[in-house]
Amino acid sequence: MIEKEKIEEIKRQTDIVGLVSQYIQLKKVGKNYRALCPFHLEKTPSFYVNSEKGIFYCFGCKKGGNAINFLMEYEKMDFPTAVKLLAKNLGIEIETTKGLKYKEIYEANEIACQFYALCLSKNIGKRGRNYLAKRNIDIEKLQDFQLGYAPLSGGLVTYARQNGVSKQALFTAGLISQSTSSRSLEAFRDRLIFPILNLSGRIIGFGGRSIDDQNRPKYLNSPETPIFKKGDILYGLYQAKKAIRTKNEAILVEGYFDLLSLFQQGIDNLCAPLGTSLTEKQAMLISRFAKKVNILFDGDLSGMKAALRAIGLLINVQVDVFVTSLPEDTDPDRFINESGADVLKEAIKSATDFFHFYKKMSKPETVEQEVVLIKDLIQIIGNIHDPIRFDRYLKYASHVFDIPVETIKKAMRRTDVTDKPVARAKTTAEEWLIAMILNLREHFAQIKSILVPEDFSEPGVRRLYKQLLMGEDIDIDDALASADQNLRQKVYSIIMRGESVSKEALLESIKRHKSSIEETRIRTKISEARTKGDDAALTKYQKEHKALKQKMLHIKKDSVALDREL
Ligand code: UTP
Ligand code: MN
Repeated sequence: MIEKEKIEEIKRQTDIVGLVSQYIQLKKVGKNYRALCPFHLEKTPSFYVNSEKGIFYCFGCKKGGNAINFLMEYEKMDFPTAVKLLAKNLGIEIETTKGLKYKEIYEANEIACQFYALCLSKNIGKRGRNYLAKRNIDIEKLQDFQLGYAPLSGGLVTYARQNGVSKQALFTAGLISQSTSSRSLEAFRDRLIFPILNLSGRIIGFGGRSIDDQNRPKYLNSPETPIFKKGDILYGLYQAKKAIRTKNEAILVEGYFDLLSLFQQGIDNLCAPLGTSLTEKQAMLISRFAKKVNILFDGDLSGMKAALRAIGLLINVQVDVFVTSLPEDTDPDRFINESGADVLKEAIKSATDFFHFYKKMSKPETVEQEVVLIKDLIQIIGNIHDPIRFDRYLKYASHVFDIPVETIKKAMRRTDVTDKPVARAKTTAEEWLIAMILNLREHFAQIKSILVPEDFSEPGVRRLYKQLLMGEDIDIDDALASADQNLRQKVYSIIMRGESVSKEALLESIKRHKSSIEETRIRTKISEARTKGDDAALTKYQKEHKALKQKMLHIKKDSVALDREL
């Protein structure tokens, strides 16, 4: 646990604009900074950062929060790790005692990785070493990949216990089948082990290839755990990211062996999706490291189809896409072993742009098939942001298919996948009020003296206000952390819109709100008295009502309108 005060200090000192700028390019607009949202795909920017309040918010996907939340989301870190990273950037020392949510799984994976690597180096791992030799893999050149071997006879549970890792932890990490039974089965047996690392170099899961072909499946991956989601990560990216950045190009392969075979021969800007077709997340991930992606999939039909699918996803994240085609019966691993690294490097260098590849692969035989092809390509081209590249491909498509540019543009407008309009949720007066209170926190002392929790009729808002009353200072995200999702999003969005009001206007609005709540209360009383026929009470409340009306006349009419559409 990290002390609350320390976290406060770190939040206060962190410059959120500086932090976010390390990852995406922000542009100043008014009081805020804006960018294309890194958390969902969009064509027009709806991701905002407010420096003064230390928060970000995306009007499209509604993700929002402070610098810590940003890191957690972007770097897939847990809370303590994100805090520690910010602290490190600021040169603040922090001590943690315990309580890392994912620590246990990371530790289990770490120990398992040690165990498998140890096995590979010992007598028991001879099968693994022989298999690697047969496939021409030189472990010496691939130290960064921490390859291992899981023996048929197991041994992980014992090794883990000796190293202080419980069966429960192994189970949570997906490494054994049961946490309690004495005969818990180890997930990986007689398999070559490929540890899968996240971008911080920590082991989040494993892939294992069976050595005995009878042993199915050929490849087994760790199950999804809180730290491992197959579609969110690319194998090899941690080891290759430097090379990918330097070359500003990533080569995308399909399999573990493709990646390792090429890597050991000096082709080092590689990464691979983990046995699924490329996901949006993975495409986004690559785009953070390189401007250009070269797809180098298996030469068979399924490799080709996977490449066609990947093209669209990669164009959407604005990278330049090229495809290297291999002969039909081979994959990069086999190709480099049979034809040599130089031939493969040549092939990679002469990769075709996505347009040619698409056209070549589709081989339309009927007019109808040609129409489909043209439409697919037009859609892909329509998603290119770079105006020059867009223009080139547009003209090119026009030339190749003999269709006037204007016609293509017209078709694009029709198929154009514009961003979904941002849903504009109706904001209630109370939601708006609480957002403004958070926004003008420096006047909280005064607001406190006027407003009581009962002045809010919406339970969520009332709870939030109560919580504010309990604290000393208002901290926007602390306050919102426990608010429900919907309220949280609305408040962030109101604050981010920078709708600010003066203190006076806010106080007037508060008074008006108080009065209207009061009026509702009195009205209820009046109708109750009427039903009961209690004339004394009726007169009393009618008097109160009149007095209240009188009072309300003095509240400035020009105080802020509370019912608004945001
Ligand atoms: P391939 O079947 O092309 O395997 O699957 P490969 O890499 O050529 O394997 P070798 O050369 O026969 O050993 C490509 C990738 O798909 C995933 C793995 O990541 C594999 O490297 N895969 C494949 C699985 O996850 N599970 C499977 O059963 C098969
Ligand atoms: Mn393959």
